[in-house]
Amino acid sequence: MNKSKLLTIIGSLVFFLSACHQESAESLLNKNLAGITQKLDNAIRANPAPNKIPRTIKGDGSLKTVNIYSWTSGFFAGNLWYMYALTNDNKWKTEAIKSTLPLDTIQYWNGNHDVGFMMYCSYGNGLKFANLQQFKPILIQTAKSLCERYNDTTKTIQSWNRGKSWDGETVWHYPVIIDNMMNLELLFEASLMSGDDSYAKIAIQHAETTMKYHYRDDYSCYHVVNYDTSTGKVLDRMTCQGFTDGSSWARGQAWGLYGYVLCYRYTKNPKYLKFAENIANYMLTHPNLPEDMVPYWDYNVVDEGLQPDWKYNASDYPLIPRDASAAAITCSALYELSGYSHHKSDYLKSADKIITSLASDSYLGNDPNNKFFILDHSVGSLPHGVEIDVPLVYADYYFLEALWRKKQIEEAMN
Ligand code: GLY
Repeated sequence: MNKSKLLTIIGSLVFFLSACHQESAESLLNKNLAGITQKLDNAIRANPAPNKIPRTIKGDGSLKTVNIYSWTSGFFAGNLWYMYALTNDNKWKTEAIKSTLPLDTIQYWNGNHDVGFMMYCSYGNGLKFANLQQFKPILIQTAKSLCERYNDTTKTIQSWNRGKSWDGETVWHYPVIIDNMMNLELLFEASLMSGDDSYAKIAIQHAETTMKYHYRDDYSCYHVVNYDTSTGKVLDRMTCQGFTDGSSWARGQAWGLYGYVLCYRYTKNPKYLKFAENIANYMLTHPNLPEDMVPYWDYNVVDEGLQPDWKYNASDYPLIPRDASAAAITCSALYELSGYSHHKSDYLKSADKIITSLASDSYLGNDPNNKFFILDHSVGSLPHGVEIDVPLVYADYYFLEALWRKKQIEEAMN
């Protein structure tokens, strides 16, 4: 027997033994189903119009909504699609369709790069879980709109439009953010659906450029890279939502991990698998990762003596905010990565530990002020002073996705 086969057998055995001690997805779901259902029902009832989409809560606990052009507009529909996938209850499918259809016009919109989030989490899941074939042309048109933001000199898709950095001191001519890796799923799928490989080619080129310019030697990444469109050169590497330009904003690391895992899913290029493993290892072995594996909003915020160049007063945060959204994205990505990697059991163990933390009283359902969302304790943007230690609709989305992926893995074993 060759070494690789032996390692695979040992890995499966270790996984099987550790899985025997791990609470199953079914059990995690069942134990929380009544609470989750209640919250989603509350959000559906409180949602005054289909194009006012739940995002978070205000200080008084009331629902804060966004319109269809927000980057988070597709997640609520996505949550309903995952509830349908997890429970098979048609009630969720009916509600998911109601929340998906108002996003229809986004297929023609190219105002920023976020259409992948907006349309793939909504329409993409409708196609995947309810086989709604009529969603295909809508997704292909969305991919077309996204590709209008591709530039052949920078060899990237532009994330935000030209503007100033958030502190107003730098002009971002052509900002690309790590989050953009998440939009590549839409492009890969559009190529599979249409037979036109131009979308996948753009996705691959974007991933290649991002690998080269967004990543540091230790496989952590910058948040924003600003390119010169006449030469394709990098002008600035900065942050917008992280602690410092050189720090590791937690959600950004998670977006990057998830992005390279999905690049491997579609290309089977071992380079992306190795890269994803390196990113995962950076995150999972980070000395500042708390014991429950739900990261601080930035991995470096607790570094002794590190001061950002914006007004930050550590005494405002006696408890440093965690970002459950970053943990949920990481968890979901790790479940997928475990299916590709020789280190299957390590990644599964880490993913199981994260989902156990998120499904515990510390993060799920313990805040009486939160009547609409599954998880507490996420951070939107601490430097901007917005959405600090609150529930966020996308934390719920990746949590449900992680639960669904865990369920798939467990069902495949039985
Ligand atoms: N894509 C924006 C964020 O992660 O906050």
